[in-house]
Amino acid sequence: MSKKIESVNYGLEKIFEGAQDFLPLLGTDYVEFYVGNAKQAAHFYKTAFGFQSYAYRGLETGAKDSVSYVLTQDKIKLILTTPLNSKSPINDHIVKHGDGVKVVALWVEDARKAYEETTSRGAKSYMEPTVETDEFGEVVRAGIFTYGETVHLFVERKNYSGVFLPGFQKWESEYNPPTSGLKYIDHMVGNVGWNQMDVWVKWYEDVMGFENFLSFDDKQIHTEYSALMSKVMSNGNGRIKFPINEPAKGKKRSQIEEYLDFYEGAGVQHIAVATDDILKTVSQLRANGVEFLSTPPDDYYASVPGRLSEFSHELNEDIEKLKALGIMIDADEEGYLLQIFTKPVEDRPTLFFEIIQRMGAKGFGAGNFKALFESIEREQQKRGTL
Ligand code: FE2
Repeated sequence: MSKKIESVNYGLEKIFEGAQDFLPLLGTDYVEFYVGNAKQAAHFYKTAFGFQSYAYRGLETGAKDSVSYVLTQDKIKLILTTPLNSKSPINDHIVKHGDGVKVVALWVEDARKAYEETTSRGAKSYMEPTVETDEFGEVVRAGIFTYGETVHLFVERKNYSGVFLPGFQKWESEYNPPTSGLKYIDHMVGNVGWNQMDVWVKWYEDVMGFENFLSFDDKQIHTEYSALMSKVMSNGNGRIKFPINEPAKGKKRSQIEEYLDFYEGAGVQHIAVATDDILKTVSQLRANGVEFLSTPPDDYYASVPGRLSEFSHELNEDIEKLKALGIMIDADEEGYLLQIFTKPVEDRPTLFFEIIQRMGAKGFGAGNFKALFESIEREQQKRGTL
């Protein structure tokens, strides 16, 4: 009898949960960068990061105003877009922000519904539901603004069988470097201005139905010189995670302030991509010329076994190999994670990448924040921006 009641309760809970998630997201669809020279950027992401040529749209395919290269690696899709003349509004974005992320596109079952649900909850419209078609079917996209000039596009592609989106052709290249083992986007972090973190936390809660599942304040995230605060937002099924950072007062200029100054506003700070063999991935990226932040000092690695045994975890990897590559280790109750951060991938000290391998841990490397920020501060010192 009691078993039956339990199962009924469980059913109701599920219905309740379903009703709460007014914006079911299937995953990240793609990330689009506006860049000054998409052809050269595409070469960089292929050569340095092991992305593969996937799709193309440009003069040859009938596009008049811009060129886009789509790159893929396992589940990740990046689009690099450059305007073809001075009249394109894409120029304004590049003039202001430099190369950066414009679109974080989310894969949905119903783009019209996603647009209605979010705009009716206060989202500012970027693009009304738009249907694009070709001989392979139709794609519906709609978009809303998030922090800064960054946007979320909802992409509904269930009635489409073409290579990427209508207007794109398969990109056949004779230059195909090997992949580096990157699998999917683990999380994407936004930097917002002073006192704006809670504003955007509330926005993701109210407009997108996300939940705040982890928070770090400036007492936890600080060095001798600078500090920041961070809250991690997650959607209902946990597939999409967006930490949001804001600067906090310190003796000197924090890395978040440096980002906001050079990006000239809020924007995407880093994209964390997952691998299941970080030693192999990072060895290859380093050999390809990807620049990483400096390796933490010896005492950092000396403290790792103690931190792991605190949670009774054993490291599968050889710590000397991790140290030789500058990979950091953090642990929590559920497991540990391995991570490393690139230097900014453009001349403005703005967007960078994180490579992450999760060995059970669901956190974001809080135990590494201090070592990481000291490493960033050494770079800021060189740039004269600390
Ligand atoms: Fe991260």
